[in-house]
Amino acid sequence: MVTLQAPAKINLFLEVLGKRKDGYHNLNTLFLKLQLFDKISLTPAKSGITISCAHPQVPASSDNLVWKAANLFRKFSGVEQGVHINIKKNIPVAAGLGGGSSDAAATLIGLNKLWGIKAQKQDLLRIGKKIGADVPLFLIPDVAAVGKGRGDRLSPVPLLKKMWIVLIIPAISVSTKEIFGNLPIGLTNKRNDVKLLIHALREADPAIIGKYIYNRLETVTFRKHKALATIKRKISALGVRAVLMSGSGSVIFGIVKTREEAMCIKRRLQDCGKVMVVKSL
Ligand code: C5P
Repeated sequence: MVTLQAPAKINLFLEVLGKRKDGYHNLNTLFLKLQLFDKISLTPAKSGITISCAHPQVPASSDNLVWKAANLFRKFSGVEQGVHINIKKNIPVAAGLGGGSSDAAATLIGLNKLWGIKAQKQDLLRIGKKIGADVPLFLIPDVAAVGKGRGDRLSPVPLLKKMWIVLIIPAISVSTKEIFGNLPIGLTNKRNDVKLLIHALREADPAIIGKYIYNRLETVTFRKHKALATIKRKISALGVRAVLMSGSGSVIFGIVKTREEAMCIKRRLQDCGKVMVVKSL
């Protein structure tokens, strides 16, 4: 059996540059991985791909990204064996934290090991891109990366200091496809502060980071789910200087200096739904 930890991510920056011919959008985004993990266990089987997961929102069918990952990797490698994949879900689902994509990437890495294929990183990245735009991020070891194109052309960002992050997980599932579909692609000025943000991240000072974090999808998701704007206001009112929605939502995160500060914010946000305190990877 092979067991892997699949981390979550947040987007500290997400600008949409325009629509592509393939239906996706070109992005300029900065990802940060978190010490919040799903656990993926791969057990050899005679044939076929089966999935088990206790979480009610996670399908145990071919709709699951881990099934797509295993199916594509089996075709690539030509093996005839099967696999059983167990997912222990800790990352909130449909929340903008990349859990499904991370599980799929861990499945590719794990099957490469389990079946002794020795596929190269480039092969895994090529297969990962077919599964979803966020999958390649989880195939590289780096804690942070800038994503261009669909978000899958990655340049690692070296980070020395770890950050404490409060995640507010509202009971709202967001469809990424729907949010991108409702995004007005107009002539508005595009934010281009990623370099300044990377500079601010070196110092890990939330007050400065707060000036440069940005998410173009926030207004679209907030228009549909007004409660999210209220949550963002509530955390900001507690004095947290770096607050943003991740991906297409619905998670709202706040970056703070210490674990103590994070725990204090958590206690004061109990009525906003589920709140988690995590550290960057
Ligand atoms: O790749 P993934 O399955 O995560 O994307 C879900 C949906 O989000 C896509 O079908 C597409 O509608 C939208 N999307 C996009 N541009 C991106 C990433 C996602 O339009 N760069």
